[in-house]
Amino acid sequence: MTTVSTTPTTTPVQPVPTPQPAMRLREIVFGAARSAAVRAAARLRVADALGEKPATADELAAVVKTEPGPLRRLLRALSCYGIFAENADGTFTHTDMSRLLREDDPHSLRDISLWCTEPWTWEVWPRLDDAVRSGGNVFEDVFGKEFFDYLHQDAHESAQVFNRAMTTSSMQSALDVAALLDLTGVSVVADIGGGQGHVLASLLEKHPSVSGTLMDLPGVVARADERLRDGGSLAGRASIVAGDCREGIPVAADLYIIKNILEWDDDSTRRALASVCAAARPGARVVVIENLVDDTPSMRFTTAMDLLLLLNVGGAKHTRQSLVDRLSGAGLAIGEIRPVNPYLHAFECVVPG
Ligand SMILES: C[S@@+](CC[C@H](N)C(=O)[O-])C[C@H]1O[C@@H](n2cnc3c(N)ncnc32)[C@H](O)[C@@H]1O
Repeated sequence: MTTVSTTPTTTPVQPVPTPQPAMRLREIVFGAARSAAVRAAARLRVADALGEKPATADELAAVVKTEPGPLRRLLRALSCYGIFAENADGTFTHTDMSRLLREDDPHSLRDISLWCTEPWTWEVWPRLDDAVRSGGNVFEDVFGKEFFDYLHQDAHESAQVFNRAMTTSSMQSALDVAALLDLTGVSVVADIGGGQGHVLASLLEKHPSVSGTLMDLPGVVARADERLRDGGSLAGRASIVAGDCREGIPVAADLYIIKNILEWDDDSTRRALASVCAAARPGARVVVIENLVDDTPSMRFTTAMDLLLLLNVGGAKHTRQSLVDRLSGAGLAIGEIRPVNPYLHAFECVVPG
């Protein structure tokens, strides 16, 4: 995409002072405006249009093809939160956060920003009180079917955004997982609900004698990482299985990875863990990797995800104890629990003999 750049003075406008409680609450209840503004900027690719030099809203509007006045208002709203910076001369520059909305940033959060603000989210948030009352998802009531069925059957654009967001998130955490896991004695590893297979690919790249299987829903594995697919650099050591892990896991492995799956409804968690235990030989390792809602530096983010999971799949992010309860309830012997990075924990388990 074309970027714009000029060289005017770049004195930043005064930072927004920390507001008093009443104003803070007013700001919080307008949170939808903030999410919508990030989504609009991501969809318009404003961050991609802004180069390293300051640019005016008029210049940016010409590139992203919007009206200049409303674009200035959008950028001003975002700048209040440190997403872009507004300068005294009316130009805008990048900040650390706005750079993360660029598609080409190595740590880009563009797809994740779109995913967290997809149209279906705006349909279910107003029903949070119903979900809190019932303890179940409201998605099926609003859309008439289960979340993943809706995603793959009726919301192809959202499904693609989801896959790209999971890819970004997986790629960013895959290296951390590969660095953490000791594969001594492991010949075959399986990633259950492994998305497009980035964790698996990272592990196979790091361990040339290990082979592996990726299992996920058909619509997801159809777009598996090309390294794992026929003709890919790891294809000789990789197999791909499409299926519902609650129905069964037709995969024999020494190590089963279950990352960011056990956050749906409890019955699905119980069935998925039962499938793993039925598939695995005694002594096989099962490593469950999850965000936790306690004992984590990312409380605001994880508790928000926790509520969204309640709305769409009747699920939850776990506390350390609630995950321990589910794993031991499935009959797994739990060993060490270790942080993978600032927002993920790994629960090392063994299938008893
Ligand atoms: C939050 S993503 C996590 C993906 C991957 N494990 C990671 O951490 O990057 C949840 C994954 O579970 C998959 N999934 C959902 N329902 C499933 C099912 N019934 N059987 C297998 N996979 C499923 C989704 O397609 C998606 O890839």
